[in-house]
Amino acid sequence: MPEIALTQTPAHIRHGSNIGQPLTRRDGILKVTGAARYAADHHPPGMLYAVLAASSIARGRVAFLDVAAAKAHAGVVEVITPANKPALAQDPDEKTNPFMFRLDLLQSDRVRYANQPIAVVIAETLEAATEGAALLSPRYDIDPARIGLDAAESFVPPGVGIGNPPVVHRGDVAAGLAAASKRIEATYETASQYHNAMEPHAIVAAWDGDTLSIDTPSQGLIMAQGRLAGLFGISPDKIHIRSPFLGGGFGSKGFISGPQILGIMAARMVGKPVKLVLRREQMYGPVGHRAPTRQTLRMGADNDGKLTALDHRTKTTSSTFDDFFEPAADISHTLYASKAIATSHEAVRVDTGTPLFMRAPGEATGSIALESAIDEMAQACGMDPLAFRLENYAEVEPISGKPFSSKALRDCYRQGAERFGWERRPLAPRQMRDHDGLLVGWGVGTATFPALMFQAEAKAVLRRDGGGVMEIGAHDMGQGAWTALAQIAADGLGLDIDQVEFRSGTSDLPDGGIAGGSAHTATAGMAIHNAGADVIARLADLATNDDRSPLFGAGNAGVIARGGRLFRRDDESRSESYSDILGRAGLAEIEGQGKSAADPAAQSTYAMHAHGAVFAEVKVDPDLGQMRVTRVVGAFAAGRIINPRMVRSQLYGGMIWGVSFALHEHAVMDPRSGRPMNPNLGEYHIPVNADVPSLEAILVEERDPHVNALGIKGVGEIGVTGTAGAVANAVWHATGVRARKFPVTLDRLIEPQP
Ligand code: MOS
Repeated sequence: MPEIALTQTPAHIRHGSNIGQPLTRRDGILKVTGAARYAADHHPPGMLYAVLAASSIARGRVAFLDVAAAKAHAGVVEVITPANKPALAQDPDEKTNPFMFRLDLLQSDRVRYANQPIAVVIAETLEAATEGAALLSPRYDIDPARIGLDAAESFVPPGVGIGNPPVVHRGDVAAGLAAASKRIEATYETASQYHNAMEPHAIVAAWDGDTLSIDTPSQGLIMAQGRLAGLFGISPDKIHIRSPFLGGGFGSKGFISGPQILGIMAARMVGKPVKLVLRREQMYGPVGHRAPTRQTLRMGADNDGKLTALDHRTKTTSSTFDDFFEPAADISHTLYASKAIATSHEAVRVDTGTPLFMRAPGEATGSIALESAIDEMAQACGMDPLAFRLENYAEVEPISGKPFSSKALRDCYRQGAERFGWERRPLAPRQMRDHDGLLVGWGVGTATFPALMFQAEAKAVLRRDGGGVMEIGAHDMGQGAWTALAQIAADGLGLDIDQVEFRSGTSDLPDGGIAGGSAHTATAGMAIHNAGADVIARLADLATNDDRSPLFGAGNAGVIARGGRLFRRDDESRSESYSDILGRAGLAEIEGQGKSAADPAAQSTYAMHAHGAVFAEVKVDPDLGQMRVTRVVGAFAAGRIINPRMVRSQLYGGMIWGVSFALHEHAVMDPRSGRPMNPNLGEYHIPVNADVPSLEAILVEERDPHVNALGIKGVGEIGVTGTAGAVANAVWHATGVRARKFPVTLDRLIEPQP
């Protein structure tokens, strides 16, 4: 199978080259012309269509499916149910590591959440498969659904997020509260949210003997390959996954999901290629979500406005059959200095699909509560909320006690405030109105996100014709990996970006790690950087050991690579082209390899995070309670910026998620049936352009020498943190009403809630 190489962007739209340049998306033209093929765009010869039948109950069992009626429908080829499903080599409920999530692959007639797949209908057309699925007319034995934060007995989960301890403390919170001159206690609730990537989970699967080829969106190709190898009992190298473009992932495509695997099972069953695409409402169950939270914060401050205690307790939900716990309180470990800090998590099991990593899992939920509570504390102290943050942000990570690898938060506060005009903000709420009589409010929030790195590999090739190739199975969810990683590749190879063929997006390439945790540019980028360095070192060996080369004997002085040539470091008048070096050595090309991983020594020494400060303006209609965010300014320090255009775009996206978190997103669950009541983009609200009229992202200069050799921190998720709280705080400043339930709805602003 050919790997996917992105052809070069025409020269006329190039804005510069390599690291630091604001290149436009190299895949942009492919995307806007429709030439970029997403998973569901594939249509191999003989392909059939599979449609899921999904459960309309949340708990019980499927008592009857009218398989005969479905099969009798013209065009229907096969119906897969638990009774005839193809055998798997592994139980989908087996869990050998915490990141192997249990799947629903028709292993039984049990229903454990609404929209769980209960059958698959395969037909010659999409219409026939859809009609066949409707004809199954399931009958159920129904057990009452348990939904919501109070549905069951709570317990302390074994770990939260990626296995962090659920209960953490440092210092004596009770003593800190007792010693405080001002105290607050407030409880905040955040809603259940669904990822809602624009592209639904989709797969086109084809078997050839025991070789499997699939087109499907993935944030983690090699992980998906491994999971499929286990389930189908074949070697990973028999599985070829193509995922050059994702129409968004947000965490929901980090692990291959049950419905995607059902598409593969369908293809195996009928011996033909099969396409399966989830309908929007079918994404509200089997592909993860963000669980609701209830968070109680208690804080104390002394007469100088210094925090004396911070206690952050959170309660969340997980499914009845698997473990994922939103680590909402963990953000309190890292942001504000307090001698005493305590965080804790508890959870209840409910009849929903298993929650999952979603858009800053934990940080987003925790941030809106923490930033609201910090504002309430500032208010209790009679202080400006920005001044209070400047007084209390941590210089050393409070829980770990580690110094930050770098922290430019003060610059973020200063630059953001200046751009926003914060100094004109009256301290009291309800003081500003616009010319239409709308209440105007300004709020601030602090942004933070860990600077993570995973493992990845890359392969670099320099060719005698002067070109280079960089190969890595990286993932572009829309964030601009095709562009930013190619920029790192070009610098690593010492070539202009147009001379580099950048191959990515398939499982046959070196393992690009996962695109998650805002770590992909650092992870894949460092593998690319190291592969470039390796191939350049091999090339330099050829030249410096050859007495016919002008670089002969450069040895200790070394060489540098630039523009397709190696130069002597101590005498740049002496240089030689890659082509000449390879030509004289009689080589058509030369190859290098690179790996990346976080440096454990640096990680145990430093706390690594990106930071930012977000300022928001809202306008509220005093009679109707209607809210609009009119302006958001964020200033972010995230290490080295590979491509400022892509980075701004990422930060805008994150800030829009923040607006969305504060005012829009809410999956409404019917407590009687356990079904999501708004599983569509008409009723599950997300911001549109009119909801976000003015966004600015300031890139604050930061050099972090410890995170990795390139100094890259992540920008994918930090934008949602800080922003959601800034919007909530602006609503308070406009109205004087502290809405503690998110999303904020207008009914709460008409009359102050008790
Ligand atoms: Mo993300 S929730 O790290 O894809």
